[in-house]
Order: sequence, then C-alpha cells, then structure tokens
Amino acid sequence: MAAQIIDGKAFAARVRDKVAGHVARLVSGHGVTPGLAVVLVGEDPASQVYVRSKGRMTVEVGMASFEHRLAADTGETELLDLIARLNADPSVHGILVQLPLPDHLDEALVIAAIDPAKDVDGFHISNVGLLATGQKAMVPCTPLGCLMMLRDHLGDLSGLEAVVIGRSNIVGKPMAQLLLGDSCTVTIAHSRTRDLPEVVRRADIVVAAVGRPGMVPGDWIKPGATVIDVGINRVDAGEGKTRLVGDCDFDSCAAVAGAITPVPGGVGPMTIACLLANTVTACSRAHG
Ligand code: GUN
Repeated sequence: MAAQIIDGKAFAARVRDKVAGHVARLVSGHGVTPGLAVVLVGEDPASQVYVRSKGRMTVEVGMASFEHRLAADTGETELLDLIARLNADPSVHGILVQLPLPDHLDEALVIAAIDPAKDVDGFHISNVGLLATGQKAMVPCTPLGCLMMLRDHLGDLSGLEAVVIGRSNIVGKPMAQLLLGDSCTVTIAHSRTRDLPEVVRRADIVVAAVGRPGMVPGDWIKPGATVIDVGINRVDAGEGKTRLVGDCDFDSCAAVAGAITPVPGGVGPMTIACLLANTVTACSRAHG
C-alpha cells in the first residue's frame, strides 16, 4: 500500500487565500488593516529565513508587516520596552518574537510580556491555560496546522488513538491538547518512554515532533495510520550539499501509512499560513 501524500503546500495556499479574503473584508468593512510585528534578536541564519518568509507572506495576504531586527547583544530592558510599545500600538494586532532567543535573554519572561490578545504564537501562559481548559485561545501555529490537515484528511477524529512523539511547549503539548479537544485518545511519548515502537504501533494518528532525522521507521507504523511529520532537519547530502528531512523515515513510513505529510512541503507551509490566520483572528477580536 502506498500512502496518500498530504500536500501541505497546496493546503497552506488555500488557507492563505481565505485569510486574504478575510483581510479584504476587514479593510473594506471596518477600515482596519491587520498588522503583524515580528521581532528577531540576533543573526541566527535559520531564523532569518523564517522571518523573511513570514514578512513576505504577511504582505501577500494584504496585511501590514512590521519587522524589528535587534542586535544579538540587545538587553532585556530594551526588548521588553519594544514589546510594551507593540502591545500599545493599535496598528499591531499580532506580535511574534522569534525563538530561540540568545542565551542571555529569559524566554519565559519575554513571552509573558506579550499582550495575550496579540500573542499569535499562543505561547503566553494565558493562552496555554485557555487551550488546556477548552476555552477560546490563541493556538500555537504548528499544531494548529497539523490539526487542520488531520481534520481535512480524516474528518471526525473522535475516538482515534493519537500518539504525539515529543513534549515541547511549542508543538508536543499543545498538539496533545488539540487532539484531546477533538476527542482522540492521546498519548504523549518522549525520550523516556518505554518501548516507543510498541506505543507508536497502536496509533491511528502519529505526530512526530522530536527534531531527530528519520527517527521513526515504517515498522513502527500501524498499517493505514495517518502520519504527520513535524521535523525539519537539515542533513548532509554529500558533495557539500544539505537537504531537509523529517523525523520519520519517509520511504518506509509511506509504504505502510494510509497518509503522510512530506518534508519539505507538509507541516512547514501550514505553520506560516496559521500564523497569518491567527493574526486575522486577533484583529477581528480587537475590532469585533
Ligand atoms: N521558532 C521555531 N518555531 C517557532 C514558532 O512557531 N514561533 C516562534 N516565535 N519562534 C519559533
């Protein structure tokens, strides 16, 4: 059996089209243009690439993009001052501070300074708590994108066995909350999980979010399961080149699964599309 490939790139383009329609209605109906501020501290090359594409896509859907690039040695007070200004700025509806931050900055403190209503990453503990208690929250973009693809592919998720591999605050934990919200039976597996292959084998839905290239082989996958690969790992491809691979060994998993997201072109494009969707949501709530 060959798995269906879930085309995240095409799905993300459809989400961005919907966002663009929503933006146009906010502009024409309310005279307000949704605005997203992205803050990047330092020169991490991968973060620079992400921030550039976020800015480009923000403008493409008709929203305003505000980029703040700060030096790697920026002090905490300066960063917190900037966040306070963005919180108070009515043209800014979403604020994203690109992670990871340089070591001398306290990530928890910085995230806590963002107005929860503008926290389009969904990382503020108010949003984490709202999500955990099934209330209206800003939902982290990567797990939100995964959920949208799962619902689109499977329809009702109720009663399905879901195994999330990875317990990060950004992906694993919110993913588990979302799946629980859709009435899945959820297991969060991690580096200390005993007999990981056996745990993964019972899953109808596998979400791999560990950041270890090709860690999940096909013989861990239940035939017909849906596999969502969140990993984006750069590996050596020989001749001085690199390539991107996921956390799942694509070929062996695709031979067993019912459906699978590719890397690249799966979860990645959906993350930015959901960031734009969250920004429109924040703007609509502010002007509703
Ligand atoms: N770094 C890697 N992923 C993310 C994300 O989703 N949001 C932010 N702010 N930083 C990240």
